[in-house]
Amino acid sequence: MCGIIGYVGKQDIVPILIEGLKKLEYRGYDSAGIAVLNGDEVQIRRVKGKIKILEDSLREEQLKGTYGLGHTRWATHGRPSEENAHPHRDCSHSIVVVHNGIIENYIEIKNTLKAEGHKFVTETDTEVIAHLVEKYYSNSLESAVQKAVKELVGNFAISVVSKNEKDTIVTAKVGPPTVIGLGEGENFISSDLNPLLSYTQEIIFLEDGEMAVITPNSVRFSDFEGNSLEKKAEHITWSPLMVEKQGYKHFMLKEIFEQPQVIRDTLAGRLSLDSGKVFLDEIGVSESTLQTVKRVVIIACGTSYHAGLVGKCFIETLAGVPTDVVYASEYRYEDYILEDNTLAVPVSQSGETADTLAAFKSIVEKNNPSLAVCNVLNSSIGRTADGVLLTHAGPEIGVAATKTFSAQMAALALLSIRLAKVRGAISMEDNIVLMKDLQRIPHKMEEILMRAKEIEKIAQQFVSYSHFLYLGRWVSFPIALEGALKLKEISYIHAEGYPGGEMKHGPIALIDEKMPTMVVIPRDRVYDKMLSNISEIKTRMGYVIAVAFEDDQGILDKVDKVIPIPATNPLFSPFLTTIPLQLFAYYIASIRGADVDQPRNLAKSVTVE
Ligand code: BG6
Repeated sequence: MCGIIGYVGKQDIVPILIEGLKKLEYRGYDSAGIAVLNGDEVQIRRVKGKIKILEDSLREEQLKGTYGLGHTRWATHGRPSEENAHPHRDCSHSIVVVHNGIIENYIEIKNTLKAEGHKFVTETDTEVIAHLVEKYYSNSLESAVQKAVKELVGNFAISVVSKNEKDTIVTAKVGPPTVIGLGEGENFISSDLNPLLSYTQEIIFLEDGEMAVITPNSVRFSDFEGNSLEKKAEHITWSPLMVEKQGYKHFMLKEIFEQPQVIRDTLAGRLSLDSGKVFLDEIGVSESTLQTVKRVVIIACGTSYHAGLVGKCFIETLAGVPTDVVYASEYRYEDYILEDNTLAVPVSQSGETADTLAAFKSIVEKNNPSLAVCNVLNSSIGRTADGVLLTHAGPEIGVAATKTFSAQMAALALLSIRLAKVRGAISMEDNIVLMKDLQRIPHKMEEILMRAKEIEKIAQQFVSYSHFLYLGRWVSFPIALEGALKLKEISYIHAEGYPGGEMKHGPIALIDEKMPTMVVIPRDRVYDKMLSNISEIKTRMGYVIAVAFEDDQGILDKVDKVIPIPATNPLFSPFLTTIPLQLFAYYIASIRGADVDQPRNLAKSVTVE
């Protein structure tokens, strides 16, 4: 989705907007623009494409001012172009708007305003907001915005400035996130925390139906009726360094290498080998609820959905609780039978994905206990749930999720052990063994990362291929799906993940010398079955790369290439099997010169349905 940044204060605003937009670019990079107000002059600069192009144009012809707005776009309505780039203006060019979200009734509003004489110059839904504010503007931007937002249907995070109201930004939200950063004699607004970390750690999260009037020395909150609201600032512990590349070529590579520490941080303080206890007091779901839950339903999208599938294996194997994993974008439109006493678990790194939020809200309305697995503090999904099981992965900038996937698996492993414990489904001895296996994972991940160069060599051989099949069974099936998704997301190579046993019922038709197969085959309960699937491929002259335990001698002569990983408890093998697949996709994309951190057409979190 789009990224919005705003500043009002004494500093020269252009560097603040540009650096802020760079930190938001993972939210969308189809076009970018800024509005800089200086006295009563409104200066707009917009470009098609990346922030870099905007930065170059500002170097050629500078803009000066101390308050204004910036926007980076993920296009939904209107092709990526300079005209459709934000900020958008009204007829008099004195009111300027940036928007994140979709206005579903924009055509209706546009026709009404056109009939009233307004002239439209873009294909966007957003432009109607500027003209609507213009329609209601007399002498207060705040009340004009209040009237305008009441006519909007859909979801929107908007920020508005006017040349008639110096040093003032009005912002309003229904749906996509908006955070306000508090400074000394200056204040900020942003779509997320990342651009604000180098200026302040005092943050206020805007809720749906709220708006704020921001000036250099004050921030006033109200609802859309104008009733004022008191809101408390939160202190954020993330540091600015966390959103820097720190010497890595890409954020994605840095984030892959951060996974051992991310697992340590996500397990820290939550496992006690002495008492065999899992401490998850923050989850807001009581022990008695966990004891009586009849079913778990995991709701998610993209990579988080794959983490949910791994979580299903953990929960069903350890706690014996039936677990469904649903695509959030499908959930609300299918007739899912939601039983009472079903624990709803939305999994979302950003906590802002609109599909997941909407599906989850429709479950929460039915009073089921709920627990969100999120990576961002105070996210919309987190605030909607009874409690949050926070993954401690830190900010993830690469659009293709990696470290948050591993952290989500760790969080779901903790939940499954806790469920098993409180339901007496596991003995104390087995519980301790499991905890030890989990705590050994970070070190085993480091062993794999030390062999990244070997995986790079293997990847080099496959940069020119156009198709790939990924296979896995039981707990490795979601890893096959995730491996295929990573390759698709960042290298644009067509790849399909399939359950190993399902291959012979269709995809085996694809097997030939141009379609290599990546097989995930730790030595587990389905090892032998997976071996037969490998021989089915070899029989048709297919090329097989296997991710297998390093002490597995039996596999060596059955496949063409082995990527060895340390052996571990088969149930926890996804933590280890996923890393070679992330690196494989990364190196292929990087060698092909793809824009690894900002792949075409994608965005880090999609806040529209
Ligand atoms: C997509 C991202 O937009 O959303 C994926 O590109 C991600 O990486 C998916 O897995 C779901 O996002 P989230 O924040 O709900 O986990």
